[in-house]
Amino acid sequence: MYNNILTEIDIGVGIITLNRPERHNAFDDALIGELSAAIDLMAAEPAVRVLVISSTGKSFCAGADLNWMKRAAAYSADENLRDSRALAEMLRKLAQCPKPTVARVQGPAYGGGVGLVACCDVAIGTFDAEFSLTEVKLGLIPAVISPHVIAAIGERYARRYMLTAERFSAAEAYRIGLLHEMVADDEGLDEAVGEIVEALLKNGPRAMAECKALISAVAWKPLAPDVIEDTAQRITRLRASTEGREGMNAFLEKRKPNWIAQG
Ligand code: COA
Repeated sequence: MYNNILTEIDIGVGIITLNRPERHNAFDDALIGELSAAIDLMAAEPAVRVLVISSTGKSFCAGADLNWMKRAAAYSADENLRDSRALAEMLRKLAQCPKPTVARVQGPAYGGGVGLVACCDVAIGTFDAEFSLTEVKLGLIPAVISPHVIAAIGERYARRYMLTAERFSAAEAYRIGLLHEMVADDEGLDEAVGEIVEALLKNGPRAMAECKALISAVAWKPLAPDVIEDTAQRITRLRASTEGREGMNAFLEKRKPNWIAQG
C-alpha cells in the first residue's frame, strides 16, 4: 500500500495521483519510491492502456522536497548519489513507459514538477497552472529533469527558464510546448483529459508502445542511412504483427478492431 500516492485502474485507464497536498506534492525518497513502483506496475498491467498522472490539492507538484534534498546533502557521497539516481530513474520510467501518459496539471508545477509534466506524452493544464525551474535560485541545477525538459521545450527556452528561474504562466507553457492544451478549471481539465484518453483508447496498444520507441529512436538523429533502415524495419515488423493485421483488416472490413470494446 502507498502512503503518498493514490492509484486506480478504471476501464483501461491507470491513474496515479500524487497525494501529499500539505507539501504541495513535493517529492521525497518515499514519494519517489512509490511513484517508481506504481509506474512499473501500470506499465506491466495489461488492463492499463493509458496512464494519467494527476495530483491532489492546489499545486500539481512543488518539485523535490527541499527537506529531503537538505538531508541527502548530509549523506555519504554514495548514498547521496543513490538518492539522485532514484529520482532520475523514476523520471526515465515515466518518460519511457510503454503506455501513453497524460499529465493533468492544476496549479503550480515547480522544479521536478516541471520534469514530471515534461516526461508525459500529453500535458493539459488549467489557466492558473504556473511553472518555474527554481533550482538555480536555490543554488542547485535542474539536472535529472533536464533531458525531459529540453525534449519538451527545446534548448533555447531551456536556457532562458533554467537560467532565470522566472515563473511562467500556463499560456507561456502552452506557447513553448510544455502544455498541449489549456482549460479554465478542474471540470475543463477532466473533460480535456477524458477526450485525450478516449482518443488513445481507440489506438492499438502495441502500436502506441512501438510509436513511443520510434520517436525516441529517431528524434534528434541526422537523416542517415541507419536511421532510414531502422524506420523501414520498424514498419515491416508492425504491419506483419497480429495487431497491425487486425487494424488493417478492421478498417477494410468496416468494423472496429478487436482492441476497442465492441457494442
Ligand atoms: N519542499 C519542501 N517543502 C515545501 C516545498 C518543497 N519543494 N514546497 C512547499 N513546501 C512546504 C512549505 O515549506 C510550507 O511548509 P510549512 O507549512 O511547514 O511552512 C508548505 O509546503 C506550504 O507552502 P507555502 O509556500 O506556504 O504555500 P504557498 O501556497 O504560499 O506556495 C508554492 C506554494 C509551491 C508556490 C511554494 O511553496 C514554493 O515556491 N515552493 C518551492 C518550490 C520549489 O522551488 N521547488 C523546486 C525544488 S528543486
